[in-house]
Amino acid sequence: MHSARRSELCFSLNYGISYRGILINNHGVTHDQHRAGSMKTIHPSLYRGTILHFLSDPAIDGPAAYEFIEDGVLVVDQGKVVAIGEAEPMIRALDHPANLTDLTGYLLMPGFIDPHIHFPQTEIIASYGRQLLDWLQRYTFPAEARFKDPRYALKMAEVFLRELLRNGTTTAAVFGSVHKTSVEAFFEVSARLNTRMVCGKVLMDRRAPEELCDTPESGYEDSRQLIEQWHNTGRQQYALTPRFAITSSPEQLQQTQALSRDYPDLLLQSHLSETPEEMALVAKLFPDARDYLDVYDRYGLVHERSIYAHGIHLNERELARLKETGASVAFCPSSNLFLGSGLLDTARLDKHGVRYGIATDIGAGTSFSMLHTLNEAYKVSRMQQATLEPLHAFYLATLGNAKLLHLEDRIGSFKQGNEADFLVIDRAATPLMKLKQTHCESLQEQLFTLMMLGDDRAIKQTYIAGQLRHDRDRHMPDHND
Ligand code: GUN
Ligand code: ZN
Repeated sequence: MHSARRSELCFSLNYGISYRGILINNHGVTHDQHRAGSMKTIHPSLYRGTILHFLSDPAIDGPAAYEFIEDGVLVVDQGKVVAIGEAEPMIRALDHPANLTDLTGYLLMPGFIDPHIHFPQTEIIASYGRQLLDWLQRYTFPAEARFKDPRYALKMAEVFLRELLRNGTTTAAVFGSVHKTSVEAFFEVSARLNTRMVCGKVLMDRRAPEELCDTPESGYEDSRQLIEQWHNTGRQQYALTPRFAITSSPEQLQQTQALSRDYPDLLLQSHLSETPEEMALVAKLFPDARDYLDVYDRYGLVHERSIYAHGIHLNERELARLKETGASVAFCPSSNLFLGSGLLDTARLDKHGVRYGIATDIGAGTSFSMLHTLNEAYKVSRMQQATLEPLHAFYLATLGNAKLLHLEDRIGSFKQGNEADFLVIDRAATPLMKLKQTHCESLQEQLFTLMMLGDDRAIKQTYIAGQLRHDRDRHMPDHND
């Protein structure tokens, strides 16, 4: 036994990991044919547990879409995934390495990804009794006005990001407030945590309290400065963020188009077709547009890097246009139920080939937990005589949402070389979950129990780029300690 010393591994860029002439990949252990010259020495960390991740959509590819290893090992080095495989042969081949964390019984999955959430609405979650447009005026705008103060924004960024990690969300596409300072605060905290985050300053120049309005020019300039300062700095990415058609004048949408041309690799996030009242007002404000989507389309804002939240009441033309452009929809079930906005018909999106992901939409959404969000999505599907399959649900929360953000080559799965953002999930986090799991006979049943009964309590640990950032059972020092 050599367990006291660090095991030395050779990493072959083409093949997986190799140790003393033994090659280890997902299929087990074979002899390495590679010349020693093509190897580099690494010192990996190993995590032993039950491994699940997706390679593609199980609704399309069935069992070929995922890898499930009951007793597996996840190998991580320098914040990246090196390999996954069966535990026994890998550990044996590595001479019982010292950096082995035994998480037997726990489920190891890539971190959850939330493609639509509002950071300045953390405090107004569960604000009661209004449909969208009153809810915005009565609760949301006053809350967002507080983010003018950079110290307050910093404090709330800490709260928000900690809440994401507690719930197992390792990447999100985030709306800031109209204030540049809110996004600066957000990226500052995220950079400290090294989380991969997408965020943008909300653009809104009308139909909101004056203190919350920018102008087409100031919105352009503030966004440009934030892009220059933060976009692709470490793991931070900027997204153009016009709030929605009601709060942006045609001039502001034009300026957004200019930014989109200047920075073609940016994502764009907004809202679309959430409630009938909202749609009626959009039709009045843009009488020349064919429909709601056409408002954005006229300004070049409908493309494969755009993500529109909701899209509940779209017409056939809009669906065809979303498919044609590759733009996507963020399905926000807990928000849609909370505000009474409607039931998104995902089968209809599938039929039209429209891409979609699944998101919380905090603060109209009622939980930061993607597990809880899958629960709500399942109920929305049942209300329409459809069924959200558990494997498909977990695909959406990980690789599916990574694809929405065009980040599938970095996060969302345990593909070799991906960033090692991963979760240690406790499938028996509560007495009831423990009891129910004893009756589960298949992976599907286990996952279904997890998404129906699970929430932040099921997230035992959250790792960011190989670093432990949340531990349910242990006090973690403040992120700025
Ligand atoms: N439409 C425009 N702004 C918002 C918002 O903050 N939340 C939701 N749910 N819909 C919106
Ligand atoms: Zn939203």
